[in-house]
Amino acid sequence: MTSKKYFTKTLLQFFSDSTITLPWRGFKPDPYKVLISETMLQQTQVSRVIEKFTEFIEAFPTIFEVASASNEQIIRFWNGLGYNSRALRLKKTCDAIVKDNNGVIPYSYNELRSLPGIGDYTASAIVCFAFRVPVVVLDVNVIRVFSRFFSPQVYTTDVINEKEIRESLVRMLPKEHSSEFFQAIMDVARLYCKKSSPNCNECPLSPKCKSNNKLVFKKVTKRLEPSYLGFPRRIWRGRVLKIVTEHYSISVDEIVQILEMSEHIDWITTIIHLLEKDGLIEFEKVNETVRIKS
Ligand code: ADE
Repeated sequence: MTSKKYFTKTLLQFFSDSTITLPWRGFKPDPYKVLISETMLQQTQVSRVIEKFTEFIEAFPTIFEVASASNEQIIRFWNGLGYNSRALRLKKTCDAIVKDNNGVIPYSYNELRSLPGIGDYTASAIVCFAFRVPVVVLDVNVIRVFSRFFSPQVYTTDVINEKEIRESLVRMLPKEHSSEFFQAIMDVARLYCKKSSPNCNECPLSPKCKSNNKLVFKKVTKRLEPSYLGFPRRIWRGRVLKIVTEHYSISVDEIVQILEMSEHIDWITTIIHLLEKDGLIEFEKVNETVRIKS
């Protein structure tokens, strides 16, 4: 058997034997649920998303509830997941689908891509998982597993060229089961083929994997995020944003007081300006207050 055949066959077998249940999965899951879960999964771990996803669907059972909600409600809900601009992107997408398509999520990749807030990953994930269209769903996990399996990697951080992976996957993906295929890769990535500590001995792909038990650990060089008083900037952004969501409108002084940061007003002002720049909050010139951008 060729290594490509082995890869596909082993993954599909692994998926069908698997006892993993995730609330957004199914043979043809609701595309709305795929939109929500895949948006959450882009920067957050599966274990954390499980809880938040379930709460989100309870609060906003359909796309119509998201469209009727305010930005503030969505951001308030998103609190704890981080990367809040995702919440606003999602809201924009849902608003456009309700306004222009009667709340029906399109099943074509190109139509999805033309919507505000939807990139290549989300569009592919929706058509593949919800509509069972055989397209390549490429994220960092798929790139990592594919690279390690098909060519010997030296360091845990090494991967091969994305274009090459995409071209190979287009040819080899199982047409009827691309949803299971890609989700199996994601499960293998999370459970065994981990970024820094791969567990090759337990991995179903290891017998034919070119990097089996060969990877040398290399620390990921992270972009250095500015910190203040020992907390990274994103933590400060989260703290300020939470306060703004808890008020209809609030002045910079009041935010500073709540945070007990009166000696550090310049830092808090910087954070407020960053949130404004990212379109999460807006200034009201008249009374010099900020609020969630409507
Ligand atoms: N990561 C991103 N999407 C995922 C999915 N559908 N299942 C598991 N992990 C994922």
